[in-house]
Amino acid sequence: MWEKGVANSIIMKELEDASSQDYHFCNGKVISSMCTKPLDIAQEAHSRFIESNLGNAGLYPGTLDLEKQVIEEIGQLLNGSNIAGGILSGGTEANITALWIARNITGKKKVIFPKSAHFSFHKACDILAMESVMVELNDNYTIDIEQVEKEIDDDLCAIVGIAGTTELGAVDDIQALADLLPEKAFLHVDAAFGGFVLPFIEDAPKYDFSIPAVSSMTSDPHKMGMATIPSGALLVRNRDWIRNIHKEAPYLDMIGQLSALSGTRSSAAVAATYAAMRSLGRDGYVNLVKECMDITGYALEKARKLGLEPVMEPLMNILCLYVPEPRKIQKELSKKGWKVSVAQNPESLRLVIMPHVTRQSIDGVFAELEALL
Ligand SMILES: Cc1ncc(COP(=O)(O)O)c(C=O)c1O
Repeated sequence: MWEKGVANSIIMKELEDASSQDYHFCNGKVISSMCTKPLDIAQEAHSRFIESNLGNAGLYPGTLDLEKQVIEEIGQLLNGSNIAGGILSGGTEANITALWIARNITGKKKVIFPKSAHFSFHKACDILAMESVMVELNDNYTIDIEQVEKEIDDDLCAIVGIAGTTELGAVDDIQALADLLPEKAFLHVDAAFGGFVLPFIEDAPKYDFSIPAVSSMTSDPHKMGMATIPSGALLVRNRDWIRNIHKEAPYLDMIGQLSALSGTRSSAAVAATYAAMRSLGRDGYVNLVKECMDITGYALEKARKLGLEPVMEPLMNILCLYVPEPRKIQKELSKKGWKVSVAQNPESLRLVIMPHVTRQSIDGVFAELEALL
């Protein structure tokens, strides 16, 4: 531990030094992240609520009310009514909590999910001592429904479908999963990324609470929702289900409190989510997503001019391209300050076209890419 405190100016200088080594969204060169620069109003809201802790909700009835409103709005956006849930630390915690609820209610342990699922489901199965069954994908990179059917048995706790896969932005056939679901099993839809994209895209496949069998969903305001980190929404169809993970904490005033994996919970993220959603409204998100999709289309055009083909036509603002030796290209781009990622299934160069990625960013990265081909 440092023996003596130092002046703020020294601290700020040290923080600046650290921050200057980080990549920042503002120069448009980070094309690998599923997060983006939050709206200014979201950052302001975050600072205003910096000290309040929803893990001790009795002290923060105002913030608790904001959280209820935010969950109600996200639930409606996902075509649910009277949806329960809360703002957790992100998609990982929301996915773990969804399976925790499903396991406690069903008393069963088998979880079926696609190979494309986020690694948070492996964490969940590990922590919850559940059996994970990973199913292969179809030619269109969605979960193979016939394989799912073969895996269903009496031990089934839950099936997981993904609405916006991390690597490709593919959307599983949630209706087909619903059609297979045994009566007492759960259907969780991970829309951590897609939850703030698909509702604003015309002709998006059906993936949400409009399908009656969907039990719970994850949707992250800290990704395309333009809120601050850490904000991941867990949405649950039946309010009573959450009681199954409830633990007593007699020293706290628990009334109205969400039962969650975290103890202390960020009210700042709740306020920021409220601010972002209130500020943009549906129209704002429609415009934001349209711009991201337009730029994704622009990037695809540029790729084709270079003779590069996409793994799939982008459904969302994620573009994966077949390139020779993607890892090598990623490394070379990184030397020039461009951060792109590499998808594994199939191996390809992955660009995530978030709101901080402009046409100029695309021109810049493709100019470098052309030189490397
Ligand atoms: C589909 C999906 N689910 C879950 C997660 C995990 O979210 P977080 O990193 O907020 O925990 C991600 C993260 O990229 C994701 O893409």
